[in-house]
Amino acid sequence: MPEEPLVDIQADTADTAPEEAGGASGSPSTSGSPGADTPPVARDLEAALETRTLSVDYDGDTAVSEISLSIPRNRIVAFIGPSGCGKSTFLRCLNRMNDLIPAANVSGEVLFRGKNLYDSDVDPVEVRRRIGMVFQKPNPFPKSIYENVAFGLRVNGYQGDLEERVETSLRAAALWDEVKDRLEDSALGLSGGQQQRLCIARALAVEPEILLMDEPASALDPIATGRIEDLIEDLKQDYTIVIVTHNMQQAARVSDLTAFLYMGELVEFGDTDRLFTNPREQRTEQYITGRFG
Ligand SMILES: Nc1ncnc2c1ncn2[C@@H]1O[C@H](COP(=O)(O)OP(=O)(O)OP(=O)(O)O)[C@@H](O)[C@H]1O
Ligand SMILES: [Mg+2]
Repeated sequence: MPEEPLVDIQADTADTAPEEAGGASGSPSTSGSPGADTPPVARDLEAALETRTLSVDYDGDTAVSEISLSIPRNRIVAFIGPSGCGKSTFLRCLNRMNDLIPAANVSGEVLFRGKNLYDSDVDPVEVRRRIGMVFQKPNPFPKSIYENVAFGLRVNGYQGDLEERVETSLRAAALWDEVKDRLEDSALGLSGGQQQRLCIARALAVEPEILLMDEPASALDPIATGRIEDLIEDLKQDYTIVIVTHNMQQAARVSDLTAFLYMGELVEFGDTDRLFTNPREQRTEQYITGRFG
C-alpha cells in the first residue's frame, strides 16, 4: 500500500481505486463546484478530471483558450483537431507536464478528486505518478525491458514484489507473451509497436489512475496500431484514458467521448457516435468531413 499523499488530493473521497470504479454512483463527482460554469457532458458520471476555464499561452501567444470540460471515469476521451490547435498543450496541462516548458503559462483549474492540480501545495511529481503519460514516439530508456518497467517503481522506492509488478504491467500492456523470455534484452531491440506497449507498461507499473496518450499510434503501422487500439479498449476497465489523435477514424473507433478543438478553443464535446454522425457545430462538421484542417 505505498499510497504516498498527493497532499490532500484524495481528501474528498474514500480511497477509491480505479479497479472498483464501476460507474456513476459512489463518491461525489464534483465536490465544491457550485452551479456556475458546469462543464459540459456527462454531468451524471463521476468525473476523473475536470477543467475550468483552462488556458495556456506561450510567452503571451494563446494556445488553449478557456476550456471547461469534464472527463468521466473509466471512459476514453479523444481530442481531435487540426495541427497546432492546442491538443498536446491541453493534454500536458492534465498532469502538469507544461511545468517543464518555461514559456508556458497555465491559468484556470484542473480538478482531480476535487483538488486543483495547480494549487501551490500539490506535488507535480506525485501528480504525474497518478496521471501517467504516453508520448507519440515510443521513448524507452536504453536499458533492459525489465528495467524499463521497473524504473518508476525503483524511483518511488517500491517495497512490494518487483518481478510480479513488472509481469503484471507487461501483461496489462499486452506485451508479456512477446517478451517474457527476453526480459534482460535491451528495450531498444523491440519493434516500434512493442516499444510503445513497453512505454504503456512502464506508465502502468506505478499504478496511475488516468493515462494520457498523445498520438500513441501515429508512428506505427496499421497492425501495431490495431494492437494499441485494442489495448486501449481493454485498459478502459481500470483506467480513464485521454487520447489525442489526428486520426478521426481512430477517435471514432476507440473513444466514448470526443472533443474537437480549433485554434485553442473547445468547439464541441460530446458522445463520439453523435459527434461524428450528427455534429452540432458547423466547424466540427467541416473538420470531420475533411473540408479544412
Ligand atoms: N514549447 C512550445 N513553445 C512555444 N510554443 C509552443 C510550444 N508548444 C506548442 N506551441 C504552440 O502552441 C500551439 C498549439 O500547439 P500544440 O502542440 O498544442 O498543438 P497540437 O494540436 O498538439 O498540434 P499537432 O497536431 O501538430 O501535434 C501552436 O501554435 C504551437 O506552435
Ligand atoms: Mg500535438
